[in-house]
Amino acid sequence: MRSIHNLALIGFMGTGKSSIGRLAADSLHFTFLDTDQVIEARAGKSVDEIFQQDGEPAFREWERKMVEELAHREKTVIATGGGLPADKANLASLKTHALVICLWASPETIWERVRGHTHRPLLNEPEPIAKIRHLLAVREPYYRQADVLVNTELRSVREIAVQVVHQFHLAWSAHQ
Ligand code: S3P
Repeated sequence: MRSIHNLALIGFMGTGKSSIGRLAADSLHFTFLDTDQVIEARAGKSVDEIFQQDGEPAFREWERKMVEELAHREKTVIATGGGLPADKANLASLKTHALVICLWASPETIWERVRGHTHRPLLNEPEPIAKIRHLLAVREPYYRQADVLVNTELRSVREIAVQVVHQFHLAWSAHQ
């Protein structure tokens, strides 16, 4: 029997993991944790700087360490970096303690949401939509293993947060 005492939001960049996660944490009276923010604080540099200076493998190593620690958390809403669950062991670990909800959006919507931002090193590309499509295709088999898949198109962050909290309550009462 799984033990569910945390809520993990996974999904591509720009699907709203952090904003929805903050609202869900408020409503559940849980702590909110954003893996990118914790990694930045620990590394003393931004995710972008880690990618530029140390390379993507170094960033993924930070993520792996983070995932091990997450297993000791209680009553936490975790917003993961978009690539964190695209690793069998990371995803399996999240599932041992959290209800895993994947937020979904189309490549076009994702691009509309992130195009004004400069801090996403993977999308600093001449063909960002093609890159989004490619990464989504590679990650889809992982994202699909979430317990719940939530479409974030055409709905407000607040509405989605309500749905996410509802799903969590259902799972929590079923697993007590
Ligand atoms: C990444 C997503 C980013 C961040 C890093 C890599 C990815 O997080 O972890 O830039 O591989 O998709 P967000 O999904 O929070 O933007």
